[in-house]
Amino acid sequence: MAPEPEDEIKDEKNPRPLDEDDIALLKTYGLGPYSTSIKNVEKEIKEMAKKINDLCGIKESDTGLAAPSQWDLVSDKQMMQEEQPLQVARCTKIISPNTEDAKYVINVKQIAKFVVGLGDKVSPTDIEEGMRVGVDRNKYQIQIPLPPKIDPSVTMMTVEEKPDVTYNDVGGCKEQIEKMREVVELPMLHPEKFVKLGIDPPKGVLCYGPPGTGKTLLARAVANRTDACFIRVIGSELVQKYVGEGARMVRELFQMARSKKACIVFFDEVDAIGGARFDDGVGGDNEVQRTMLEIVNQLDGFDARGNIKVLMATNRPDTLDPALLRPGRLDRKVEFGLPDLESRTQIFKIHTRTMNCERDVRFELLARLCPNSTGADIRSVCTEAGMYAIRARRKTVTEKDFLDAVNKVIKGYQKFSATPKYMVYN
Ligand SMILES: Nc1ncnc2c1ncn2[C@@H]1O[C@H](COP(=O)(O)OP(=O)(O)OP(=O)(O)O)[C@@H](O)[C@H]1O
Ligand SMILES: [Mg+2]
Repeated sequence: MAPEPEDEIKDEKNPRPLDEDDIALLKTYGLGPYSTSIKNVEKEIKEMAKKINDLCGIKESDTGLAAPSQWDLVSDKQMMQEEQPLQVARCTKIISPNTEDAKYVINVKQIAKFVVGLGDKVSPTDIEEGMRVGVDRNKYQIQIPLPPKIDPSVTMMTVEEKPDVTYNDVGGCKEQIEKMREVVELPMLHPEKFVKLGIDPPKGVLCYGPPGTGKTLLARAVANRTDACFIRVIGSELVQKYVGEGARMVRELFQMARSKKACIVFFDEVDAIGGARFDDGVGGDNEVQRTMLEIVNQLDGFDARGNIKVLMATNRPDTLDPALLRPGRLDRKVEFGLPDLESRTQIFKIHTRTMNCERDVRFELLARLCPNSTGADIRSVCTEAGMYAIRARRKTVTEKDFLDAVNKVIKGYQKFSATPKYMVYN
């Protein structure tokens, strides 16, 4: 409804200022009838949540552990039951594709063939003939399309979230870090340097040294540092029940690695599979040896200038098969020795960084008191010192706590320490 022209003119000439009521009225434009009360409730909810959080104190995200009042075994169990594992099948044929009632012929290995429909979460365009699919166990409906062939357990090994360890968290080990970066980062970031010189960069690195000297730690720091895809394999994961399975996993692992632009494969505890070949008369270890030989084969297979780097870590290098170690396969061998005084001081500082310590704890003295101890020992000392402080109901850790802890850990663990044994073998 257009306003009267006379009114308009009058208003323009002499605009009436808005009074309180008008503003209040304007403010209600566009608001639903309940919006104020909803807003109030939302505010109350927020306040309540804040109150509860304050009462709960330290949050789950800080400790990785929910408060005991929230431990709910029953609903956890129920959730596990609801989420049934899917079964892998192959979609062999699509009957009347591109129509409303398309049906899919799936072949569940060693069970049967079925004609099934799609689950709720898949669209017909996702499924193609010859594809691997996940089907549920009741109706065998197709629930998800699966990527081709590569073993799901291999795919699982990819480290997707970067570990939060950086080079700064590794105490000492300067030389080792330097060597590692030279082999891993340089060829990936500046391949042209190697091309110009006409040499092939080393394909891989073997890290060895006594337990607890930071081999796994450094590998994690490398993973954090690069943007390359990082695949972590524990040696024992490759030991499989059936003949040929382990070797197949290795093949698929490298196949997956090759499909990435840049990839670092880290075999931890490689002595699980890389042991020297021998004949025990029973043939029980043959399978393990075949797995190792497949690794050797794959190491030969890929181009040194290529996109894959291999790291391996072990604390029993003497047991490894010579074939695995020969130059051309793992050219670089980096020894992780026991940390020296300076490194030990640094490791102490690293592990007490987040602790609530007295101001001037003499870390150098502490480092002097732990000769021949590894990074893991020192970490344990720090934890024990914290335990002493907790026991005495203190909020800060004193130097005395540290000294007590040194006594306890270094003396007490001597019995268990694997370091002397390692020294004998190597
Ligand atoms: N140089 C170091 N600097 C800081 N922390 C260290 C260092 N070395 C070891 N640690 C501590 O010890 C822990 C164990 O180290 P790590 O897992 O790297 O041992 P490892 O060498 O892989 O032993 P293993 O041969 O038994 O697998 C690390 O989580 C870290 O807290
Ligand atoms: Mg380790």
